[in-house]
Amino acid sequence: MTLESEIHELKEERDAVLLAHNYQRPEVQDIADFVGDSLYLSRKARETDREVIVFAGVRFMAETAKILNPTRTVLLPDLKAGCGLADAITAEQLRTWKAEHPGAAVVAYINTSADVKAEADYCCTSSNAVQVVNGIPPDREILFLPDMFLGDYVRRRTGRAMHLWVGDCPVHARMRPEDLDRARLQHPGAPVVAHPECGCSTQALGSVDRILSTDGMVRFAEETRAPEVLVATEVGILHRMRRLNPTTKFTPLDEGTVCPFMKEIDLTDVRDALLHRQFVIDVPPETAARARQALERMVAA
Ligand code: 13P
Ligand code: SF4
Repeated sequence: MTLESEIHELKEERDAVLLAHNYQRPEVQDIADFVGDSLYLSRKARETDREVIVFAGVRFMAETAKILNPTRTVLLPDLKAGCGLADAITAEQLRTWKAEHPGAAVVAYINTSADVKAEADYCCTSSNAVQVVNGIPPDREILFLPDMFLGDYVRRRTGRAMHLWVGDCPVHARMRPEDLDRARLQHPGAPVVAHPECGCSTQALGSVDRILSTDGMVRFAEETRAPEVLVATEVGILHRMRRLNPTTKFTPLDEGTVCPFMKEIDLTDVRDALLHRQFVIDVPPETAARARQALERMVAA
């Protein structure tokens, strides 16, 4: 029996749904029930009536699923699937920052630990950060964390004076404005789509055609008629873009843009997760209760 058929059988036996992020390995995306960005997958996790959620993504996504749908068993097939950006701020650091700005609204990107979310008023993803910030009363001071590039982009789009935590994603921050300029010269006329975590995106805003979440890029891929598109994000996204639009050439801005955390999970890990019910992601109920309102605001935005 192939691994794929084993996974299909086990999913039925265990009453499980398999969610996969756009950066996952192609073979994991291909076997998933739902593939998408972190907002789409959070909504799918929240609404599922399956007993088990297998999250082929990273830990903060599995924690979010558990908080939004606490009666389900949430499995992360490999515990090494963390996130360098989520590690950029601890709950203790956030409490200290909040104490320096009493009364400020705290907006936490979904790429944070459950402990950090428990200290937040709002959560957001790359696809709805602008809407979330626009929904905060205009006279309220805002602390935005932990990604400074996304925060800077949101600050420009909303015109709000936000305080930004100085954190970044080690995978996206390495893309610099010079890389963008070089790619532009090598691929004249090709539009550039970039994820807002990119180090090149906000500083070179004028030369990026669209700043989009990963699902935003997938939609762009479906619609574009351009012969070539330059893609500034983790290379896992290219699988869906190329499949949905085989006539456009999708070229990574830098093919070394690989998130090691997102590549931890392979088909064997997914099979073993279902077989052995591993690795169960739990969030202490008190932490989950404190994080839930911020996350509900995120899925509603
Ligand atoms: P998206 O919500 O755009 O999928 O981004 C998640 C992420 O981790 C980007 O690095
Ligand atoms: Fe985290 Fe960056 Fe990997 Fe996204 S690409 S999961 S932000 S380390």
